[in-house]
Amino acid sequence: MIVKARNNTAFAATTVLLLLFINTSNAATQSHYEGIIAESSIEDYVGSKACAECHQDKYEDWSGKHMSDFVRYRRDISGQLQGNWSNSPIDKDEVFIIMGDKKKVAFADKNWRLFPYQYHFKKREWQKRKKWANQDYRLRCAPCHTVGLNLSTKQFVEFNVGCESCHGPGRKHAEAREQNKMKVPGVTDGQKVLFTCRKCHNDKRNHARAIKKFSGIFHGKGK
Ligand code: HEC
Ligand code: HEC
Ligand code: HEC
Ligand code: HEC
Repeated sequence: MIVKARNNTAFAATTVLLLLFINTSNAATQSHYEGIIAESSIEDYVGSKACAECHQDKYEDWSGKHMSDFVRYRRDISGQLQGNWSNSPIDKDEVFIIMGDKKKVAFADKNWRLFPYQYHFKKREWQKRKKWANQDYRLRCAPCHTVGLNLSTKQFVEFNVGCESCHGPGRKHAEAREQNKMKVPGVTDGQKVLFTCRKCHNDKRNHARAIKKFSGIFHGKGK
């Protein structure tokens, strides 16, 4: 379990929360809390759009990566939902959040409840995911699929893997950059770059496959 916190209050709060969680759940569900738990409180984040003003090249490069856009609200998409809905076990009208669009896609309703199915594009079939039944997207999936998540309030800054997922909270930097340097993974954080990637692409799930061919440079490599 990865817990990082800059200030002690946030750390204490996170610890209490994790302890509560451990007491009330089994080992299998705990692993879903891995990933990036906010390093700081939600007010310390600004969201990726705010970085574009000064880092246009990085912003464009990131926008072209699948990581930046694969979770979205249904209201923000135009056109049809992907997948074969003629034999779907899900009520199409209840879809509120869409997750994925290359290999598989999963859905949640307006109360953030996951539907216990995913659609597999290549196999063209709906696959049952029993463990997702009645689970809250914000608790089960958002640790890796949102930025700045606070597990107790269930609030987050934005969907997907944003600039601040890897560089840490950036509000202060965006407002007064001279006094507030950002963390650069593998360069100024005292860790190898894969340390940051593995918070989400961890070895225990097949997510690690995606980083196997990583060249060591994140920006400017297109996809
Ligand atoms: C008002 C302009 C501005 C905004 C907004 C801004 N930055 Fe910066 N940032 C700079 C400047 C200037 C530098 C130093 C020169 C450079 O590396 O481009 C810098 C440097 C950096 C660095 C290198 C480390 C450092 O701090 O020197 C990172 C990483 C970074 N910014 C990330 C971000 C992220 C992520 C965001 C959005 C949360 C962001 N920046 C928003 C102006 C800005
Ligand atoms: C906050 C969690 C998180 C972090 C940190 C993270 N990733 Fe990802 N990554 C994801 C998610 C979610 C996806 C999107 C799903 C997809 O593309 O299938 C993804 C997708 C990818 C992909 C497939 C890209 C594509 O366009 O299809 C690669 C390659 C990748 N990540 C590499 C990295 C590397 C390298 C790092 C570290 C520098 C990193 N990731 C850090 C969560 C993360
Ligand atoms: C430990 C971090 C983590 C958690 C928690 C997590 N994911 Fe992911 N997920 C990833 C990463 C990393 C990727 C991208 C790399 C990959 O596809 O292996 C990804 C990819 C996906 C994809 C994309 C498949 C595609 O390429 O089209 C879907 C759909 C998905 N996740 C759904 C979920 C759902 C639903 C939950 C909650 C039940 C969840 N994830 C929880 C890290 C996580
Ligand atoms: C998946 C992790 C990840 C994400 C997401 C990410 N970066 Fe980076 N960033 C890195 C890494 C790793 C480096 C070190 C150089 C490299 O690998 O390209 C870096 C380097 C930088 C630098 C240059 C620092 C220097 O040494 O001069 C800036 C500026 C920057 N990123 C801004 C951004 C902005 C703005 C966004 C969002 C639009 C963003 N990054 C999204 C991982 C990430």
